[in-house]
Amino acid sequence: MKAKIIGTGCQLPAYTADNEYLSTLVETSDEWITERTGIRMRHLVQEETTTSLAAGAAGKALAAAGMQAEEVELLIVATITGDTETPSTACRVQAELGAVNAVAFDINAACSGFLYAVHIADAFIRSGVYKNALLIGAETLSKLVDWTDRGTCVLFGDGAGAAVVAAAERGGVVAQSIGSNGSKWEVLSCAARPVRNPVRRDEEPCGYLRMDGQEVFKFAVKTVPLCIEDALEKAGMHPEEITYYLLHQANKRIIQSVAKRLKQPEEKFPMNIDRCANTSAASLPILLAQMDAEGKLHPGDKLVLSGFGAGLTWGACVLEW
Ligand code: UT7
Repeated sequence: MKAKIIGTGCQLPAYTADNEYLSTLVETSDEWITERTGIRMRHLVQEETTTSLAAGAAGKALAAAGMQAEEVELLIVATITGDTETPSTACRVQAELGAVNAVAFDINAACSGFLYAVHIADAFIRSGVYKNALLIGAETLSKLVDWTDRGTCVLFGDGAGAAVVAAAERGGVVAQSIGSNGSKWEVLSCAARPVRNPVRRDEEPCGYLRMDGQEVFKFAVKTVPLCIEDALEKAGMHPEEITYYLLHQANKRIIQSVAKRLKQPEEKFPMNIDRCANTSAASLPILLAQMDAEGKLHPGDKLVLSGFGAGLTWGACVLEW
């Protein structure tokens, strides 16, 4: 038995900010952002929270799967922007949905988080521990971003995507390649709140996202093709056999570079980065749900999902729709 996606959904905040608007906040331009990243606009939360976006996406995924919330056995939220330090976002989503029988927990693998969630769910399903799982990537990155730092604030957006996976004999996850390199953690990080206890008083302000963009770029264009090739080799498949490559939406130029390295046409690499920007762990499930809703995915299609992010972390998953 393997984990097979049987329903998807996504939820984006109502408010959108275009590049022109950002150029009123920091010294930037629509031309710079569009040319260097492919981003034209991003969704930002006003009333919404990470929990409400996650629950919204999850509700749609459950409806698409024809499942009741009480049937969910495992509920994983991949996020770095929960609404509370504790409890987990997963527990709060569990309460919103009424998924009373689920084991619920969060994972932090930044932009690779959804792939890590698939990895965990597939292992549990293959081993027979659980028969299904609700996997959610949900972020409100706008609260981690320093809105005076043009090097990062133009890149990120808020949103959530979800997928229900269930045990299946045919189709589903065929092979994965996944990894982490903690020695490079400083390349992309966000400090936790400072220690202020009776015996120590750190003076640093609350942390914001800090990134060495060029280092992340170099890491991504090198590592993503390698892990996709590794996953394809494990699956016994050639790049041509893949219908679509869904890559983490961080930068259009990274996606184009991966397409070139794999010698595959760009049309096989769908993008929503122009509308959604980089939504970290939510990026892949949002793209997947949008393609599903647009009727672009058909039974038997072979997909590769691949991403990279803080940690450093990365992953690729070959699956049959
Ligand atoms: O989910 C993973 C998260 N992160 C990523 O995937 C990020 C990967 N990296 C990237 O996408 C790119 O490195 C960036 C988009 C972040 C930056 O693009 P770049 O082509 O690597 O630009 P750069 O950092 O080399 O900067 C070029 C110039 C600099 O000015 P000078 O020193 O040449 O005068 C920057 O200060 O562009 C300047 N710059 C900007 N200018 C206008 C940096 N950000 C901006 C901005 N608007 N927003």
